[in-house]
Amino acid sequence: MSDTSVLNRPVTGLDLLATEMDHVGHLSIRDSTDGAAEANPLRKGLALDRVPAPCVMVIFGVSGDLTMRKLMPALYDLAVGLPLPEGFSILGVSRRDWSDEDFRAEMRKAIAGHTRTPITEESWESFASGLFYVRGNFDDSATYETLKCRLETVDKERRANGNRLFYLATPPSFYEPITENLGRQGIAYRQDIYSDPMTSWNRIVVEKPFGHDLPSAHALNAAIASVFSERQVYRIDHYLGKETVQNVLAFRFANILFEPVWSRHYVDHIQITVAEALGVENRATYYEEAGALRDMVQSHMLQLLAVTAMEPPAFFNGNALRDEKVKVLRSVVPPEGNDVGVLVVRGQYAPGFIDGRQVPGYRQERDVSPTTLTETFVALKLTIDNWRWADVPIYFRTGKRLPRRVTEIAIEFKNVPHLMFKTVGALDLQPNVLTMRIQPDEGITLRFAAKVPGAATKLRTVRMDFAYGAAFGGAGADAYERLLLDAMLGDPTLFARRDEVETAWSLMQPILDNWSNQQLTGLPLYEAGTWGPDKADVLIERDGRAWRRP
Ligand code: BG6
Repeated sequence: MSDTSVLNRPVTGLDLLATEMDHVGHLSIRDSTDGAAEANPLRKGLALDRVPAPCVMVIFGVSGDLTMRKLMPALYDLAVGLPLPEGFSILGVSRRDWSDEDFRAEMRKAIAGHTRTPITEESWESFASGLFYVRGNFDDSATYETLKCRLETVDKERRANGNRLFYLATPPSFYEPITENLGRQGIAYRQDIYSDPMTSWNRIVVEKPFGHDLPSAHALNAAIASVFSERQVYRIDHYLGKETVQNVLAFRFANILFEPVWSRHYVDHIQITVAEALGVENRATYYEEAGALRDMVQSHMLQLLAVTAMEPPAFFNGNALRDEKVKVLRSVVPPEGNDVGVLVVRGQYAPGFIDGRQVPGYRQERDVSPTTLTETFVALKLTIDNWRWADVPIYFRTGKRLPRRVTEIAIEFKNVPHLMFKTVGALDLQPNVLTMRIQPDEGITLRFAAKVPGAATKLRTVRMDFAYGAAFGGAGADAYERLLLDAMLGDPTLFARRDEVETAWSLMQPILDNWSNQQLTGLPLYEAGTWGPDKADVLIERDGRAWRRP
């Protein structure tokens, strides 16, 4: 992570440690003080860009949806926007019978319409000249022999200095065989912290889902650790690449105003909502095995909780930040045994209407079993056993085919201890709420009471709004752009560490165990286009509270 304060003095070895750059990463600090640079022309030359060293990125599963819709557009946008160095190359691996030329043509077709920057002939030619392809099965050692030769040639031709970024974008069952083969064939090798800064680097980026449960996450971590050191492993949770999620940290830890009230003394409860209007789309094969708890809660929602509830780290770097996230996750009390039935509600969407359009139920979707018990909705209540949050309920809610796409974190504050206005008339006041709108209407809203103009003393609840669109012209680049660039730079701050992923799974495991012991014949249904099953309302209303209607 960039520490702009170092721009005021010579860069030292300690800065390198504090920025958590990999031993061979460029020291690359973006000067965020553009105004200051203008005022003082001498500062101009100090602005360093975040440009990584040249490397070859090897993408396994290059014909898949993720590569086509997310990775390639992000890489193209990065290349056009110039943070990628000359010589940056992509070596795609998949089972498709493609030549380099076919691969380039397929990628162009796939990414058109998904990039922020429109494709021009000139920039495409330059980007495409760095695309290469290897065909093969992921569990066949012959694939890795071909890959090794091809990598060496591409590396030499493109002067990538042996720097390699491996990206696992395949179905998760291939993560272990790919890692093992990379190690066995000597394509990837372990690098510990204090390697010579002049040697080349190799790192691996692992996509979600990282395991299916706690034991499989342990096993995957062990398999990866047998080839790579933790410092080389970048576990993606794309929510951490979202500007608005990083802004939770800026909001909490760069302002004096909110931190003193950010605790059980002032907060009544927290609601974290990740609602999607889309259904399972074309991912049913994966989703049938996952369900909403694994797909959203174990990863994205626990990350949202961590950044909201963690203690202030001393530094903005990979270890300091992740230490605090792990610490707060370890204080979460997972529901166990009979509590699971009380504190966790699951449901499945039935046919209904979204935006006036009729949509099928989950059981009617392609590749979904007509008797499936996979949940497409979860609501749950968790608590955090520590001094800051004891007794503050955290309500989570996520689902597919809800009325609209909205992700938000709402901090609902307590009522004032005494309201003197009670005696002057009927009041329709609601407690303060601070809502961090993660997407799609990115911003922050504070709800508070105000006097209605006029001779009478009437109060009403009003809102104060910050919108990214108005302040910055938008919430910036796609999460994948930021994360891919960080992985190339060797900055792990926005990636999940091994203990973080395993702690997150350990919170879900008692729920998964409880569910697998139940003899169910069906799940509570909710009509598509509604806010989930009735039982979800019971979960929160039992506590005298209500779900927000975002
Ligand atoms: C993915 C899940 O990780 O996140 C999907 O697997 C979900 O099921 C997606 O739709 C949501 O991401 P976003 O960025 O659209 O909120």
